[in-house]
Amino acid sequence: MKLAFVGGTGPEGLGLAMRMAVAGHEVAIGSRSTERGEEGAQTVREAVAGAVATGGENAAVVGDADVVLLTFPYSGQQATLATLAAALEGKIVCNVAAPLEFQKGIGAVALDVAGGSAAQEAADQLPNSRVVSAFQNLAAERLKQLDHPVEADVLVCGRDAEAKQVVMGLADQIEGVRGLDGGGLSQSRYVEMLTSLLININRRYKTETSIRIVGID
Ligand SMILES: NC(=O)c1ccc[n+]([C@@H]2O[C@H](COP(=O)([O-])OP(=O)(O)OC[C@H]3O[C@@H](n4cnc5c(N)ncnc54)[C@H](OP(=O)(O)O)[C@@H]3O)[C@@H](O)[C@H]2O)c1
Repeated sequence: MKLAFVGGTGPEGLGLAMRMAVAGHEVAIGSRSTERGEEGAQTVREAVAGAVATGGENAAVVGDADVVLLTFPYSGQQATLATLAAALEGKIVCNVAAPLEFQKGIGAVALDVAGGSAAQEAADQLPNSRVVSAFQNLAAERLKQLDHPVEADVLVCGRDAEAKQVVMGLADQIEGVRGLDGGGLSQSRYVEMLTSLLININRRYKTETSIRIVGID
C-alpha cells in the first residue's frame, strides 16, 4: 500500500513511516514545506534499506495514498483538515493525535476536546472520509529504534469496520505490535488521554512505555 503522513516530518510520523517502510509499504512524508517533506523522506530512506519513500507538501502527498495518517499536533488539526478535506474524500484517514498540553508541576495533561476526541472532530470535519484513530500510545523514540520490537497493543477506533481492519493490519505489521479493535470513534477519547499518562510515566521511569491489553488470545 501507499501510506501518506500529514505532518510526517516529526518524530511520530517518521517513526511510523520507518516501521511501515520496513513492512514493505511505500511511504510519503508530508509537510507544510516541500523541502522538509523531502528531507523527511530522505531520513526514512537512510534508516530503512530499500525503502520507497517520497516527500512533499501535505496536499501533494495525500493524493494517491491508500491510507493517510495524521501525525501532526492537535493544535493544528482544524486548520489543516480544512485545507485537505477535498483531497481526503473517500480515503482511509487514521488520526494519531493525542490532544495534550504540558503544565508546570504536573507534566502532560490531556485536553478536554469539545468534540469528544481529536478523532471525532476529524470525522466531523471529514464526513466523506473513512476516519479511524490509532497509534496514539506508541512512543516515537521506540518506533525509531528499528532494531528493537515495539512491544505494544494498538487500539484502533472507528465506525468503518473495513477501515479499522486495514489499520489493525498495518499495526500487526510492526514487529511486536498487535492491532486490536478499540470500538467506535467515541472510544478514541480514552486512548488519546492515555498518552498523557504514558508520557508522565516515561518521565518518571526514564523510558518509553506503551500498553498491552490482557485477556484476549
Ligand atoms: N511524539 C510521540 O512520541 C507521540 C506519541 C504518540 C502520539 N503522538 C501524536 O502524534 C502527533 C505527532 O507527534 P510529533 O511528536 O511527531 O509532533 P511534532 O513533532 O510536534 O509535529 C509533527 C509535524 O507536524 C507539523 N506541524 C507542527 N505544527 C503544526 C500545525 N500547527 N499545523 C500543521 N502541521 C503542524 C510539523 O511539520 P512541518 O513543519 O514539516 O509541516 C511537525 O514536524 C501528535 O498529534 C502527537 O500527539 C506523538
